[in-house]
Amino acid sequence: MTAPARILTIFGTRPEAIKLFPLVHALAGDSRFASRVCVSGQHRGMLDQVLEISGVVPDHDLDLMQPDQTLDALTARLLTGLGAVMDAERPDWVVVQGDTATAMAGAMAAYYRKIRVAHVEAGLRSGNIYHPWPEEVNRKVIGSIAALHCAPTETAAAALKRENVDPAAIHVTGNTVIDALHWITRRIESEPVLAANLAELESRFAGKRIIGVTSHRRENFGEGMQAIADAIRRLAARPDIAVIFPVHLNPNVRAVMNDALAGLDNVALIEPLDYPHFARLLGISTLMLTDSGGVQEEAPALGKPVLVMRETTERPEGVAAGTAKLVGTDADRIVAEAGCLLDDDAAYSAMARAHNPFGDGKSAARIVDLLVG
Ligand code: UD1
Ligand code: UDP
Repeated sequence: MTAPARILTIFGTRPEAIKLFPLVHALAGDSRFASRVCVSGQHRGMLDQVLEISGVVPDHDLDLMQPDQTLDALTARLLTGLGAVMDAERPDWVVVQGDTATAMAGAMAAYYRKIRVAHVEAGLRSGNIYHPWPEEVNRKVIGSIAALHCAPTETAAAALKRENVDPAAIHVTGNTVIDALHWITRRIESEPVLAANLAELESRFAGKRIIGVTSHRRENFGEGMQAIADAIRRLAARPDIAVIFPVHLNPNVRAVMNDALAGLDNVALIEPLDYPHFARLLGISTLMLTDSGGVQEEAPALGKPVLVMRETTERPEGVAAGTAKLVGTDADRIVAEAGCLLDDDAAYSAMARAHNPFGDGKSAARIVDLLVG
């Protein structure tokens, strides 16, 4: 009998935790693997929310978040911390996901030890290294190191081939975010209490259409974020809508949003929601305004129109499917595009159709099979 493959899965932020818990679940139930999990703690509260609901218990927790951390100090702490864990664990594979500092440093530290890297959600490219910043370059760095590229879509696989990645190392697996969304939906169906805490807001805003908002991108800090806040304030002046905005814990986001939006009657600025409650928010919203990557993937699966407040996207599949629209960070444009969806039933219906460009919910099983050996 061959020894189980030693897999070290590394993550540190909310979206990585959401997109990797299906894989950690699949590895844990499979005797072909000895699975270990290391969290960097790049995020703390927002990471812990996901660990709790998914039941993932890390074997290593570097707990390295600092308030308002800079990219260079964060990356330096990540490299030394993750390298030490790899020296202790000596895995056959290091698994990283997406485009964060944790994922990029995890891939680098593995490369320094000649450990094979599997990249989940490989091949997303906007073509602009400052949008999203620094994620576009993080992805390229990981892409140049990885031995296994799990591309969510054919578009992502084609981007890797254009960069001369060995086609034999590229596999279209779908995006594990859909696995996560299906899992959480099943959990809520069997335990509705897991998503019951929005009831008070839902009754306060009864009769109004809900706009769900998230915003956190570093490239939007400053002018972009100010414009997003301005657009939300102007939209909230309409009596027929209400805004529910779980505000990211990054202090740069909170300061702007609190200054611009606190105290408005039909704007609820709330703490980050755990995943079941965020799934509920997606469900009750008429439309989403966001600069998030993950929300751009979840909204099409649920047929929720999503206006993407970014200049470019590395996820063109949602736009091609017609559920997402890129609207940039100009306040007039955001207000006009949202107004069009709110006032024109035909425009709304054209966008509000469920599509599955990002996967069928079986991605984790496909990825696990690729890690054998
Ligand atoms: C990070 C990722 C970004 C990802 C986003 C998802 C990098 C460089 N950025 O951005 O790619 O889209 O996460 O949300 O990897 N904070 C808390 N508690 C938390 C989380 C954050 O207090 O649970 C605060 C801290 O002050 C922290 C700051 O937010 O220093 C920034 O966190 P950081 O992970 O560096 O950047 P994000 O903007 O969250
Ligand atoms: N999300 C959440 N609670 C919130 C906001 C978002 O659970 O209050 C989830 C959302 O469903 C998606 C993920 O977090 O799966 C997106 O994370 P984020 O926007 O922080 O990062 P990005 O996807 O832009 O990297």
